[in-house]
Amino acid sequence: MKAYEKLLLENKAWASEKVADDPDYFNRLAHIQTPEFLWIGCSDSRVPANEITGTQPGEIFVHRNVANMVVHTDLNLLTVLEYAVHHLKVKHVIVCGHYGCGGVKASMTQHNFGIINKWLRNIKDVYRYHRDEIDNIKDEESRVNRMVELNVQEQVMNLAKTSIIQKAWKQNQFPHLHGWVYGLKDGLIKPVFEMPAGTHIDPLYEFDDL
Ligand code: CO
Repeated sequence: MKAYEKLLLENKAWASEKVADDPDYFNRLAHIQTPEFLWIGCSDSRVPANEITGTQPGEIFVHRNVANMVVHTDLNLLTVLEYAVHHLKVKHVIVCGHYGCGGVKASMTQHNFGIINKWLRNIKDVYRYHRDEIDNIKDEESRVNRMVELNVQEQVMNLAKTSIIQKAWKQNQFPHLHGWVYGLKDGLIKPVFEMPAGTHIDPLYEFDDL
């Protein structure tokens, strides 16, 4: 059996197990999608949103990219955000990074990664804002891990700078924004940053006509 065929076989087994447990399972799910959470996570295969949070299909709306970035020109991210916030009306947006993130690590080097450089540039900017703090950490692993935390914090702040979030805060007093970091070594999530709905940011980024 080819490796990918195993996935299809596992899928069949999973689907019949679900139906055996609850004959109406797929019928019900097909007709509702009311997740309370939007998850913006890293594409890393070791950080599956549903599995590590014990959530079921239908409970989390998920967007993943390399190093869980919120880039304000990323149409993909903005579409997910707009849909989750203004149509699904999620109550919480979670940016979840993870310690030992390869994307963050790569951004801290001078290596040329070709087209990937353009994405990593956004993370390099986070390093530059916090250069004094990061450069003062002696151990390399700790340096990367602190950058992971600061990157998550920065991406949460990037969310708050979007008109999508600001409009929702004004109209609905939702969603709350959370910055979390997942530990590959112990499986635990550490909350590192939070912005409750309505938090004021640098007025330079606050729109006045929402
Ligand atoms: Co990563």
